[in-house]
Amino acid sequence: MEKIIVTGGCGFIGSNFIRHLLYESAFSGSIINIDKMTYAANADNLKDAASDFPDRYSFVCADICDNAAMENLIQTSSADSICHFAAESHVDRSIADPEAFIRTNIMGTYRLLEIARKHPDRISLFHHVSTDEVFGSLGAVGAFAETTPYDPSSPYSASKAASDHLVSAYHRTYGIPVTISNCSNNYGPYQFPEKLIPLVILNAKEGRPIPVYGDGKNIRDWLHVADHCRAIWTVMNKGIRGRTYNIGGNAEMRNIDVVTMICDAVDRMAGPLDGNRPRRNLIRFVTDRPGHDRRYAMDCSRIGRELGWKPKESFETGLEKTVRWYLENEEWVERVKSGEYLSWMKQQYGD
Ligand code: NAD
Ligand code: TYD
Repeated sequence: MEKIIVTGGCGFIGSNFIRHLLYESAFSGSIINIDKMTYAANADNLKDAASDFPDRYSFVCADICDNAAMENLIQTSSADSICHFAAESHVDRSIADPEAFIRTNIMGTYRLLEIARKHPDRISLFHHVSTDEVFGSLGAVGAFAETTPYDPSSPYSASKAASDHLVSAYHRTYGIPVTISNCSNNYGPYQFPEKLIPLVILNAKEGRPIPVYGDGKNIRDWLHVADHCRAIWTVMNKGIRGRTYNIGGNAEMRNIDVVTMICDAVDRMAGPLDGNRPRRNLIRFVTDRPGHDRRYAMDCSRIGRELGWKPKESFETGLEKTVRWYLENEEWVERVKSGEYLSWMKQQYGD
């Protein structure tokens, strides 16, 4: 891989992945970042990359559903691989309005697969980034394996499940060289603050109510984004074509425990709120999300055994770094908050 198209590279994980390749890995080739710049995109995430790596990093504003734009890109770029992150990614938004999820996550993936199918001489790998949410909800014990049947609960997870099936089918039917990764909940720098961890950090910092859905006992496995990026790059380089790999952080946590850890960390790092009130007092139990999956857990033995990857970050150290990052990067936070974040918060919780 010398020239990689990264779709959705201005989003949370895509921008961390591009930063990983340019600043931290041994990769010496170039990257073309294709992003439609939805509300979730943030050019600030990569503002240094263009100047630090003018010959190795470029950006094209385009929609992956736009066939002509994608065809033109392949014809003119000499790209040899695709790492596909672009998606609508927030479950609550998919419940409120599923259409964009169907369009981008299913049709967009289909478009890119068609491009790969038409140019077998050029595209030597299509890596598809997906989620553990395709497997549905677990009971109190057990973990998702790559062989667990799909059972998605939300429009988001159903659209990702459909895209995973398309990628597998294109491999079986047309022989497209693909790899797929299904990962658990990511956290870390540059995440749009509609997702649990950055939302709670910012609300805690500013003394706003912290919404916890239902009884707060839903369990997620948390994967630091740096570990995830390393895992994707490992799969792209060493993964067997046509194979799926689970990626998890080995960090199962109840939401309420995540939220209280964040409150305590912000108290420690930013000092107490007025009147010396602990930030745990900001927690509010609110109406549950419809179709809210109870528990996710990942069996990551395949990627460990076959490719030698395991997570490096513990949840405690990763969360500490993440809270610090949001508290220290005030300019990034202020710019994000001034845009779509504000209207989403108002729509969800009023003024
Ligand atoms: P994100 O919402 O932060 O970023 C998505 C990016 O895709 C944005 O920059 C957006 O502008 C771009 N995009 C959306 N529609 C597009 C289109 N039609 N054409 C081109 N670009 C488009 O998402 P993320 O959290 O970085 O997630 C990246 C991928 O990882 C997604 O496929 C998601 O399903 C998957 N994933 C995320 C998590 C997580 O915890 N965030 C967990 C598992 C899997
Ligand atoms: P989220 O970050 O939206 O990721 P996902 O739905 O993809 O897992 O939510 C993580 C968990 O936190 C999930 O169980 C829903 C819960 N949650 C809250 O309790 N309050 C919130 O404000 C949000 C956004 C999520």
